Amino acid sequence: MTLHKPIQNADVDPHDRQGFAHFMLKEIYEQPDVVRQCLAAYLKPGWDSDQDASLSSNPFNLALPDELFATVSEIQLVACGTSRHASLVAQYWFEQLAGIPTRVRSASEFVSAPFPLARNTLTIAVTQSGETADTLAAIAAAKRRSSPAESSLQSWLLGITNQSESSLTKAVDYTLPTLAGTEVGVAATKTFMAQLVVFCCLALEFAFRRQALSPQQLAPTIAALRSLPDQIETTLQHQHEPIQTIAQTFANVKDCIVLGRGINHAIALEGALKLKETTYIHAEGYAGGEFMHGPIALLDATVPVIAIAPAGSVYDSMLANTEKAKANGAPLIGITTVTEPADRTVFAHPLTVPAIDELLSPFLTVVPLQLLAYTIAVQRGLDVDRPRNITKTLTR
Ligand code: AGP
Repeated sequence: MTLHKPIQNADVDPHDRQGFAHFMLKEIYEQPDVVRQCLAAYLKPGWDSDQDASLSSNPFNLALPDELFATVSEIQLVACGTSRHASLVAQYWFEQLAGIPTRVRSASEFVSAPFPLARNTLTIAVTQSGETADTLAAIAAAKRRSSPAESSLQSWLLGITNQSESSLTKAVDYTLPTLAGTEVGVAATKTFMAQLVVFCCLALEFAFRRQALSPQQLAPTIAALRSLPDQIETTLQHQHEPIQTIAQTFANVKDCIVLGRGINHAIALEGALKLKETTYIHAEGYAGGEFMHGPIALLDATVPVIAIAPAGSVYDSMLANTEKAKANGAPLIGITTVTEPADRTVFAHPLTVPAIDELLSPFLTVVPLQLLAYTIAVQRGLDVDRPRNITKTLTR
């Protein structure tokens, strides 16, 4: 059940590349508009904390029941691949912004090893296609387990999907569509971005309703969300050229490490997945601190390290990790914010994104990683829209 409809432009054929060499590139460039469309649907227009703070009016428009926001005490997220990485970013938001304990499990693991049944749980299944077999099996398992129990043990079932008419939407009680439009490239890009917007609005609405954030605290975050489309555009404009050069330098590597900490650990996983599936380079994403406990032994001059190090609470520790990688001979690519000039001396290959609050930084840090994966794949002469061995929807 939902009030939101996907925004479709009937004049535009989603199967036309519109001048782009590949669908993946087109879809990366559509991301500013996807964020605009999602915000238009999920944020009330013109909400302004000065004007509305006294009324404490809700800035969000998610159309979920009041009772859900009032009663949920725990959130469990089930998803696969890129949708699981969006869920890991969301876990950070639900816990750090709204203070709700949140767990994420691969849908394929949830079926055989579900989380212990808990009172007032919200189960969210996330899938761009709405048809991924493992995710459907996980939501069916969550439904089966909770139905015979007492009412507080019945889970609220919510789907986040890009397909409003899908098996997922039939299986859940509520749906939040991601409004990204048709995604043709097998590698998910714009649907990931849309999942982040939906999750962020949901976490912020929980935070607002539970007074974890006051309207005055919320106001700068909402303003920052509204700036995202322009900031993604800036990132695309400024980083496309340096990425071409970096891609040429590293087009033939066999292995690559992507490091991130805090909320950007999930982006390291997503960046590594994009590299694996489009370029066939063996890429691994790690939490910066964890990487020191063994995997650092992999490094030498043939293994580039991509460090996601935007300004914020984990910046210094990320830099410490990358200094160690450098001491082991690894070439360093840095994804940083323009505000940190020290990056120039650490990273041989800096890629900057506009200044942004660390909690929202995944919206920007993922973009150079998507573009890098795309560009290397093209330079390796690969079929970037249809990588080997995988399909857009894994129905079994
Ligand atoms: C993403 O680039 C991959 N193609 C893959 O990991 C995908 O995210 C996964 O199969 C889940 O798909 P879904 O979102 O349609 O459920």
